[in-house]
Amino acid sequence: MKTVDLALLGFGNVGKAFARLLIEKKPELEDDFGFSPRITAIATQSHGVCVDPGGVEESALLSMLDKDMPINLSRLDKSGFRGDTYDFIEKVPAQILFETTPVNPRSGLPALDYLRAAAKRGLNLITANKGPVVYGFRELTELTGQHGKLFRFESAVLDGAPIFSLFRGPLAGAKLLGFYGILNSCTNLLLDRMRDGESLEQAIVYGASIGITETDPSNDVDGWDAAIKVAVLSNVLMGQNLTPMDVQPTGIRGITPEMVRSADAQGKRWKLICKGGWQNDGYHVSVKPEMVGSDSPLYSVDGTSSYVSFELDVLPGMGILESDPSPKTTAFGLLADLIDIVKSGVA
Ligand SMILES: NC(=O)c1ccc[n+]([C@@H]2O[C@H](COP(=O)([O-])OP(=O)(O)OC[C@H]3O[C@@H](n4cnc5c(N)ncnc54)[C@H](OP(=O)(O)O)[C@@H]3O)[C@@H](O)[C@H]2O)c1
Repeated sequence: MKTVDLALLGFGNVGKAFARLLIEKKPELEDDFGFSPRITAIATQSHGVCVDPGGVEESALLSMLDKDMPINLSRLDKSGFRGDTYDFIEKVPAQILFETTPVNPRSGLPALDYLRAAAKRGLNLITANKGPVVYGFRELTELTGQHGKLFRFESAVLDGAPIFSLFRGPLAGAKLLGFYGILNSCTNLLLDRMRDGESLEQAIVYGASIGITETDPSNDVDGWDAAIKVAVLSNVLMGQNLTPMDVQPTGIRGITPEMVRSADAQGKRWKLICKGGWQNDGYHVSVKPEMVGSDSPLYSVDGTSSYVSFELDVLPGMGILESDPSPKTTAFGLLADLIDIVKSGVA
């Protein structure tokens, strides 16, 4: 049985969910795909680093995750690793680096630099982080390609739902003309809560209590998370070269409970709608709140669900709905990328 060695850079919500999913799915990966994945290294910023060329002990890792206390990965280290993130990338005994550090919407850094270093070392790259994709999709694809390796990022938009793999596979040959949808699940939840009578501030407090909004929710509320996703889809699928700033998003701060009630009275709902596509005068993108009626597929996308509809030359409308995602959903996107890389024969 072929063993594939994996290094995890970042071990927060997504990294931990991925480790659990990988261990859960290992028998399936062995039986159905003929390879055995092995985590050989994990790095965090403040929760330690572990490197074990023989494979980090899975039962010890799971029991650390199951305990209701801060993790300390150094306890699992078998190599006496000392160094910073770049030393980690340079030395890890792995064929694939999984990058799940926080997103920086303004530059993609430092994650983009981490991935550049890993690509130059000849590793395959998988990330859930939109930052390096929007700022470095072409460069990282080229850098990995120079070593015969791959750069994959299925989880960057709509978590684990297949988008990029669809366009590489079943939709190859179809021409994408445009897309629209709800790409930010946080604002969708906040607007739902406002429909139930809460103010935006109360909805944000609720979102924080269930881990959906951050302490500073402006990335979501002001439309920046949605703008990065619009730029990612535009750059990767439609040949554009946009930054989130080019999208100039309008978030949901201007939506008041009165506006939400008034829309309700008209049988409509406010949604933060993302769009990108070709029009007669060129390529256009937008992120802004709009009212939709019950005749729109977006009307019933509720809670933390997301939806994207693609317009293709051969398929006038093809929608993907992702209901109630969790970190496990995002972890699945990473797993799908892993299977894709192994099936491609480059790991
Ligand atoms: N959460 C989701 O459902 C979701 C969905 C789609 C995409 N994403 C993307 O996935 C990524 C991870 O999200 P998350 O929710 O897992 O974030 P998170 O919980 O904040 O975890 C981030 C991890 O990165 C580590 N880290 C930060 N800087 C580092 C460095 N220089 N070297 C090594 N490790 C470093 C952190 O270390 P410490 O543990 O020491 O802080 C932490 O383990 C983000 O880019 C996010 O946008 C998340």
